[in-house]
Amino acid sequence: MIYIDLDPSTGSGQARVPALGFGTWQLKGREARTAVADALDLGYRHIDTAQMYENESEVGQGLRDADVDRDALFLTTKVAMDNYEYRKLIASADDSLRKLKTEVVDLLLLHWPSDEVELEESLDALQEVQHAGKTRHIGVSNFTPSLLRRALEIAPSLVNNQVEYHPYLSQEKLLDVVRERGLFLTAYSPIARGTVLDEDAVQEIAEAHGKSPAQVVIRWHLQQDRVAAIPKAASAEHRRANFDVFDFELSDDEMDRIHGLAHDDGRMIDPEWGPDWER
Ligand SMILES: NC(=O)c1ccc[n+]([C@@H]2O[C@H](COP(=O)([O-])OP(=O)(O)OC[C@H]3O[C@@H](n4cnc5c(N)ncnc54)[C@H](OP(=O)(O)O)[C@@H]3O)[C@@H](O)[C@H]2O)c1
Repeated sequence: MIYIDLDPSTGSGQARVPALGFGTWQLKGREARTAVADALDLGYRHIDTAQMYENESEVGQGLRDADVDRDALFLTTKVAMDNYEYRKLIASADDSLRKLKTEVVDLLLLHWPSDEVELEESLDALQEVQHAGKTRHIGVSNFTPSLLRRALEIAPSLVNNQVEYHPYLSQEKLLDVVRERGLFLTAYSPIARGTVLDEDAVQEIAEAHGKSPAQVVIRWHLQQDRVAAIPKAASAEHRRANFDVFDFELSDDEMDRIHGLAHDDGRMIDPEWGPDWER
């Protein structure tokens, strides 16, 4: 495993993040439970969920089924936008802990920036949850570079911004802020939901290493400073393959070639409540 070290002053407990995690969006019910348990059996030690995914209970069951030492696991959940008011946010974090069957999560994020509730209010509540020992670290998701800078002025202990990131979508500007401030970026939809796997460049590099296109793209993420990736896989075969990325290395040229696939229309996740993305 490759780890990302966090500044110990920004939180408590485990101060290193396994750079490869397992995403659970769209996994529901028994499938979510089995997928999480199986991922942990395969060696994943970083699991990503959210209140909005409506699967925290099943993710919690999966964690129990696999019986992995809680301290060896990095567990992230995200507060839904409906819960951004101060008291609601704190109550919703308790609800997440109950569903996940744990006393503390490792990272609690604001899922999207909001126009409805002042950023100060939701960040104050997030910090309160951290002070109460219910999350070890705090962060945000889907924040643009300028929104992230603003959030850091209010809550300097933020450690993470989880955003869409894959070869089609550059996050260079955001990564500059993330690295400058010692945060880490979590790449969601890291294989562009499968769409990038047919690219010639990716296929040629995969062939050269005797790996699959998905393994190459995941490896591309992991070789970037302060980047974590959380591919989702309902299929057991995909889960296994996506974890088998620690026995090869991409050259600088190969990294650049994959970076070269980025283009202006690369964004895939752009809901109506999303921010005005800064290119
Ligand atoms: N913060 C946010 O707003 C936000 C937004 C989107 C996603 N996320 C997080 O990021 C995670 C990952 O993103 P995502 O689910 O959108 O996309 P993704 O991980 O880029 O792609 C998932 C898709 O790729 C397929 N796949 C996985 N491994 C493969 C392999 N080795 N070969 C071929 N196909 C493969 C999966 O198929 P099968 O499922 O059939 O195996 C699924 O269709 C989510 O689950 C969620 O935890 C967060």
